[in-house]
Amino acid sequence: MKRITIAIDGFSSCGKSTLAKQLAHHLHYTYIDSGAMYRAIALYVIENGLVTDGVLNKVALLRVLGHIHIGFKHDDATQRSETWLDGRNVEHRIREMDVSHHVTLVSPIPEVRAKLVQLQQEVGQGGGVVMDGRDIGTVVFPNAEIKFFMTASPEIRAQRRYLELKGRGADITIEEVMANIERRDLDDTTRAADPLTQAPDAFVIDNTHLTSSEQFDLALGEVVRAIGVVTQA
Ligand code: DC
Repeated sequence: MKRITIAIDGFSSCGKSTLAKQLAHHLHYTYIDSGAMYRAIALYVIENGLVTDGVLNKVALLRVLGHIHIGFKHDDATQRSETWLDGRNVEHRIREMDVSHHVTLVSPIPEVRAKLVQLQQEVGQGGGVVMDGRDIGTVVFPNAEIKFFMTASPEIRAQRRYLELKGRGADITIEEVMANIERRDLDDTTRAADPLTQAPDAFVIDNTHLTSSEQFDLALGEVVRAIGVVTQA
């Protein structure tokens, strides 16, 4: 059976990765989290002292950008693909709040985007992938056979992210999470390079009132429509 490319774009914290993982698991495809790559660059600038009083030293970043190595390795124990930065597993570290705060310093930079888009195209070439992000259906894989655009109300997204972070022991308030989501929505939709936009051929899923299994059934229905009966997980 043809192994296709599935692009999932949408606002932050609206369940893109949950759906992407479910589809990848069901179809025996590879899941690629493009946001993890932007988070890894954000972690790099934090750890290498490239941010002072909230201002990024862009010149210094551009000087070393070509040498920053980002990769994914499959962890057999967790059955997940984990993010590595310069030889170190950073999968958990990049989910922390300071990285979420710094990521919008690096994600608008065209050179950063060019590097990461190229990496995404390399890891996704050949199909059999589900990739989520902001510009996957518009820039990275404009010819993806299936594109989903996901959205949900900001309140529901903040609530879900808050519970997720709390579950991991984070010391955080719902107001902080909401402020970060609003900030990233604004930055994602207004940046000059590859802003978040809905591809004209994307199937829109608003999951404000959907459970994750309802959402999965809806999405799988689209996949079946596009490629016919699919392999069972
Ligand atoms: O999906 P996420 O929230 O983990 O993404 C982290 C940040 O990276 C988010 O604020 C927007 C940015 N991003 C991007 O600009 N382009 C992508 N393809 C994926 C993420």
